[in-house]
Order: sequence, then C-alpha cells, then structure tokens
Amino acid sequence: MLFSKSLTMTSRRIAAACVRHHSSLTTELIENMDKKATWDRFYTENKSRTSTFKNFEWFFGFDSVQDLILPLLRADSHPDALLRVLDMGCGTSALGPCIYRHSPLPVRVTCADISPVAVRLMQEHVRAKAIHPDNCSSQLEFVELDCTQLHKHYGSCSMDLIVDKGTTDALLRSKEGRGKANQVLKQCLKVLRSSGSLLQFSDEDPDARLLWLETEAQEQGVMAADVGVQEVGELRGVCYYCYQVTPRPVEQQ
Ligand SMILES: C[S@@+](CC[C@H](N)C(=O)[O-])C[C@H]1O[C@@H](n2cnc3c(N)ncnc32)[C@H](O)[C@@H]1O
Repeated sequence: MLFSKSLTMTSRRIAAACVRHHSSLTTELIENMDKKATWDRFYTENKSRTSTFKNFEWFFGFDSVQDLILPLLRADSHPDALLRVLDMGCGTSALGPCIYRHSPLPVRVTCADISPVAVRLMQEHVRAKAIHPDNCSSQLEFVELDCTQLHKHYGSCSMDLIVDKGTTDALLRSKEGRGKANQVLKQCLKVLRSSGSLLQFSDEDPDARLLWLETEAQEQGVMAADVGVQEVGELRGVCYYCYQVTPRPVEQQ
C-alpha cells in the first residue's frame, strides 16, 4: 500500500521534472534513478532546453528548509575549524551554494554528485556568477563522487552536516537501488562527527522511511543512531518530510 503510494508520487514528480523531455527519459528515470548515465542524460537534456543556466530543484529550494539547516551549524561543534557540510547528490540545486552564502559561521560546503555533467554545470555557474558568503572564511566546492564510496574520500567523524534532497529517494525507488541506499546511509554515519547530523528531505511516508532508517542505521556493536522526523510542509498536494539521523555512541557488549 505504502509502496504503491510512493511509486505513484514518484511517477508524478518525474513526469513534472520531465515536462517536455522525451518519454524514454521519463521511463529511464522511473526505473534507473540510481544510475549515473540516467542523470547525465537528464542534466544534458535540461541544459539544452534553455540558453541560460537555471538551477534545477527537486521538491523545493533552500528557502523551504533553511530553518531546519542553519540552526544545526553551531560554533560549539569544534570552535576553531571550518564546519564541514556535504550536499550529497547535489545535482544542479542551489541548496549547497545557499548554505555557503547564508551560514554566519565559517563552513566548507562540498556539493557532490555522481553526474560529471551536473558537477561541471555548477562549477561553470559559480565561476560565472560569484557568490559572496556571509562569512569570508567559508569555502564552496563541487566534486564528482559516488556517495556509496564516501569513506574513500572523507575520514571517519569528519563531517558536521550531510544534506540529502531527493538522493536517497532516487536510490530507494530504483529497480536496483535499495542496496546502494543502505550503503549510502551507513557511509554517512561513518563520516559524520558524533555531534553531526544527516538530513534527508523526502516525500516518503514516515511509516516506511522511519522503519527503514531504524533498521539500517543500527548494527550491533558497530553502529547506532537516533532518528527523527518533522514535516517540511505541503506543496502541490504532496507532504514533504525532513528525516534527521544522528550517530549515537555504540554500546559495547
Ligand atoms: C532526485 S535528484 C536530486 C538532486 C538535487 N539534490 C536536488 O535537490 O535537485 C538525485 C541526485 O542524486 C545523484 N546521485 C544518484 N546516485 C548517486 C550516487 N551514488 N552518488 C552521488 N550522487 C548520486 C543524481 O545524479 C542526482 O543529481
């Protein structure tokens, strides 16, 4: 029941994202949102539709979620260093650049995506349109990276905040993506500091997502996490949620 509801919502969203795209891309997206080639095609076709660059936002933009994100960037986490933020599966969204721009505390924001097309578009965009951060020590970068391999790029306990807007949803709803979603969640918990959090923005019903998070974020003697949810709001008849996952010290047996 829940599964078919989320499939229907996914199809609606993809249809909206693919307005004027060829229908074969819509089919590819519905089944293969875990594949690099699908997203390379998506961002290439999106780009060819307009002469000037425009950020593409899955669900909604920074304004809808800034009050959930900015309070988590606190000075007490580790006072002398830059706070580390990762936008995982950033696409061509303005979320990461907006965190960089609006954080009063110094941050290093890494926007990472598996699609080199999306990464290149964002690199060219920020080069052409300089963004001035609130804190002059803040840094912004775009990297091509497969988030199932986060541990190869970042040390354990190195990130303060990971934001995920639609990326885990894309993996969970793909034919072969569930294993990757499990892997990504475990990697996030590994690279997050004990004071850090993972925020997943999603339209998935809490009954389904909380069960998945609570199951996959625990591994006896290895990993544990606290999981919470709050509503972001309703947009075009769909309710959106923010799932917060926070690593918890593992109890040794
Ligand atoms: C639904 S889109 C969301 C994009 C962006 N976060 C937004 O809000 O518009 C999912 C994104 O995840 C990226 N992605 C899919 N699998 C990935 C992986 N294994 N590692 C990194 N990015 C991935 C895709 O390229 C795509 O840009």
